[in-house]
Amino acid sequence: MAKRIEVSDLDIYYGAFKAVEGVNMTVEPRNVTAFIGPSGCGKSTMLRTLNRMHEVIPGARVDGKVMLDDQDLYSSDVDPVAVRRVVGMVFQRPNPFPTMSIYDNVASGLKLNGVRQRGVLDTAVERSLQGANLWNEVKDRLNKPGGSLSGGQQQRLCIARAIAVEPQVLLMDEPCSALDPISTLAIEDLISELKEQFTIVIVTHNMQQAARVSDATAFFNLAGQGKPGKLIEMDSTQKIFSNPTEKATEAYITGRFG
Ligand SMILES: Nc1ncnc2c1ncn2[C@@H]1O[C@H](COP(=O)(O)OP(=O)(O)OP(=O)(O)O)[C@@H](O)[C@H]1O
Ligand SMILES: [Mg+2]
Repeated sequence: MAKRIEVSDLDIYYGAFKAVEGVNMTVEPRNVTAFIGPSGCGKSTMLRTLNRMHEVIPGARVDGKVMLDDQDLYSSDVDPVAVRRVVGMVFQRPNPFPTMSIYDNVASGLKLNGVRQRGVLDTAVERSLQGANLWNEVKDRLNKPGGSLSGGQQQRLCIARAIAVEPQVLLMDEPCSALDPISTLAIEDLISELKEQFTIVIVTHNMQQAARVSDATAFFNLAGQGKPGKLIEMDSTQKIFSNPTEKATEAYITGRFG
């Protein structure tokens, strides 16, 4: 089940450095939300707080609240590993396990979760590869290593791996930046299909991509060097790209900076 995310008064730190300040936002379920903004404004940092990946960096911490439906992700009784199972992530560079088979790449999360029956794994692997639009290309070579696929196929394999454990939210940090235009369009089509099932948050530098794939857009900006990034404006993608409220948003999307 797709879930709603609600962030309140979130400050994000790396040690003493406050990287992002005062974020309040709601991410709707069965929706694609895009994070845009200039380099260094904190998009990736913000994204990683949504599945508690931020705190794996020594000294990193947050102040504030991140709710996933009625669960406070930073409550002391919440296991971050369990959070990451519910909130999956796809990274900028395709990072399949290169020597592991295509099949095992997809099955790895389920196996970690204790699933052993071959029939259950077979079904989940096929369903996930279908879901990632990769099944037809790999069904006859499931035992070949993940590293034997093209870059675009590897990224779809990583998406299959992420959706195999049936997360409720899928975070994607510039998932197309290492891909050619055709693979990029394939991933964009896939994102539009996946939003029927998942809540999707995507970081992108590509304005056309944000406009094509997202329903809502959040624009982050920096007040200056060494200052924290802030969420400047969040609204429907249509509003942000046609008639944003803030001057800085308009300047950014029309390419005047960043
Ligand atoms: N591991 C880290 N340790 C210390 N500071 C970090 C770390 N990662 C990021 N930062 C700092 O936090 C701020 C936000 O970085 P972040 O990577 O979130 O920006 P971004 O918007 O994703 O940029 P880009 O578009 O270049 O990917 C920057 O000032 C960056 O230098
Ligand atoms: Mg980034």
